[in-house]
Amino acid sequence: MTETLPFTVLADDTAYAEAVQLAVDSAAAYYADGTSALDDDAYDRLVRGIQAYEEAHPEAVLPSSPTGKVAGGAVVGDVPHTVPMLSLDNVFGAEQLADWAAGLERRLGRPVTAWSVEPKLDGLAISARYRHGRLAQLVTRGDGSAGEDVSHAIGTIVGLPDRLADPVTVELRGEVMMTTAQFEAACAKRQAHDGTTFANPRSAAAGTLRAQDRPYVCELTFFGYGVVPPPDDHSELAVRLRELPHSQIMDWVAAQGVQTTAATPVAGIVADALERVQERVGEIAAVRAELPFGIDGIVIKCDLAADQAEAGFSSRAPRWAIAYKLPATEKITKLLGVEWNVGRTGVIAPRAVLEPVELDGSIVTYATLHNVADITRRGLMLGDSVTVYKAGDVIPRVEAPVVHLRTGDERPIEIPQVCPSCGDAIDSSQERWRCVRGRECRAIASIIYAVGRDQLDIEGLAENRVKQMLDAGLIADFADLFFLTREQLLGLERMGETSTDNLLAAIEQAKTRPLSRVFAALGVRGTGRSMSRRIARHFATMDAIRTADAEAIQQVDGIGSEKAPVVVAELIELAPLIDKLVQAGVNMTEPGATPPAEGEEPKVELPLAAMSVVVTGTMTGPLATLSRNEVNELIERAGGKASSSVSAKTSLLVAGEKAGSKRAKAESLGIRIVTPEEFAGQVHAFL
Ligand code: IVH
Repeated sequence: MTETLPFTVLADDTAYAEAVQLAVDSAAAYYADGTSALDDDAYDRLVRGIQAYEEAHPEAVLPSSPTGKVAGGAVVGDVPHTVPMLSLDNVFGAEQLADWAAGLERRLGRPVTAWSVEPKLDGLAISARYRHGRLAQLVTRGDGSAGEDVSHAIGTIVGLPDRLADPVTVELRGEVMMTTAQFEAACAKRQAHDGTTFANPRSAAAGTLRAQDRPYVCELTFFGYGVVPPPDDHSELAVRLRELPHSQIMDWVAAQGVQTTAATPVAGIVADALERVQERVGEIAAVRAELPFGIDGIVIKCDLAADQAEAGFSSRAPRWAIAYKLPATEKITKLLGVEWNVGRTGVIAPRAVLEPVELDGSIVTYATLHNVADITRRGLMLGDSVTVYKAGDVIPRVEAPVVHLRTGDERPIEIPQVCPSCGDAIDSSQERWRCVRGRECRAIASIIYAVGRDQLDIEGLAENRVKQMLDAGLIADFADLFFLTREQLLGLERMGETSTDNLLAAIEQAKTRPLSRVFAALGVRGTGRSMSRRIARHFATMDAIRTADAEAIQQVDGIGSEKAPVVVAELIELAPLIDKLVQAGVNMTEPGATPPAEGEEPKVELPLAAMSVVVTGTMTGPLATLSRNEVNELIERAGGKASSSVSAKTSLLVAGEKAGSKRAKAESLGIRIVTPEEFAGQVHAFL
């Protein structure tokens, strides 16, 4: 995690004044309707630059400076808050967090009793005023002392009920945001209405919250993170809510029927030591990419009311809480071009070429654009400023154009009329466009994949060799390899006797691979290595696979109603290739598997039966020599399901050396973790 982020260096008073103006304008646009020209990271850097300049030149500080102000001083509203709605100070790493905590404990003159650790939700702060249990008014944060009335949004916010469980008069504070699903739905509605989309969930939520006369309604989500009883209220409940630890207040909020993060994978926890806080920060960061809503950090608060009261407030933020910012997962950059790549199966995939941008720890230059329909749906144009998203090991993707940053110089994206690889026609009947020649279009890619280490594992067949054979007309697909003669191979340039014999022996050897690998070599769309193993174990023979209809295919774990017909269609398309493999004498059975009898599930007692196992880190001990694919094969021989990502469904994590985020995630989900050695002991009979 980044400890200190660089900041914009300001040379003189003029540069400083310009920076202040830019920050003020950006904050105004950001809090108004989410249309800032700067992404979060750029804004943070700018404000830190302003801060640094002000520290060095206190005499030059402009009154309009955003430093020390809630919402950068951007917004004013006309509804006064009963208790100010403050901001949070930030830290950007473990060391800064420790410094902050040490400073706080010095101020208190004793250790903090307990910490509450919860996600920092990436939306807009709102105050929901309930009178006698009924939702009466919604107010934005504004400048912290007064906000704007947005009560018109009542009834469109999931998690914020019209009535509380008890007829109480309180103010709930929390974040209004859009979940990923709500964002997609909102974009589709806006697209249908005016042909544009929202740049990201946060600006969509900001725009939606303030929109009054839109002809379409978009749903929002609320997560509560605090309660404010009326200041003059001295009832038993009000007193209790002022005295309870934060964690228990959140339980009360949830009991009132208001959504909190309690039911999410990043639920708030109470930590008694800073080490546990830091650990929880890691856990939350590890699951961030898979959350159904955006977070931009972790909020760490003193849990006890007494600690909070003693710590007090600065003008801008409480001293008893801090925001631990996570690296940005979204940035704005320019869409420079679109490349059209034709994959192994003939699928034509557009890829965005971007002005390089640093995102979540790596430089992003390319991002997926999914398919043509996606490009048109988002109304993308060349030269557009676009929001790009990347988190963890997620493939970077272009989210949307930032429409308000258009200059008029943007050009339409040219959609190919013919296959960019071979020039033949395009089959555009499905969302994913394909060359009409299908696999033949990219025969070389299919063959190289088929002979790869995790499939047929034919040594000595490098790309240039395959190309040579294709050019000479010796092969058209990988099944043809099994019919090559010694003379044909010797006739190729740079092919001596020894390499010919070695290659022929390797090809012969490949005929004995288990069905799972032969099936994987086919490169059936929608099935990778692990799915191929599951299919092979389930059906045991190629014949059984080929006679299965979509319903029978769906019996395989992980194949749903969408994928099953694709697999069936693919097998029909691949029939001539499979026939050729059979004719060549390639093995078509899976050792140790028996085909499923009609209507009956195979009953076997295997050590990993019904378990989903994930392997991460470097393997040691008896597993040290196995490739990751071979470890996965081992898991499946022992009856388990090998999976590449940790989720609530994971039963076991085999964590080797240098295990990173998967280990943290498994820990946060309470999943059993074993060493490679322990695991090898468990499955030794299958090694
Ligand atoms: S507590 C007195 N808890 O972050 C300040 N804020 O950058 C109380 N936010 O204005 C804020 N998640 O809009 C708190 N779990 C959380 C939060 C959270 C998101 C927002 C909130 C606040 C902003 C400060």
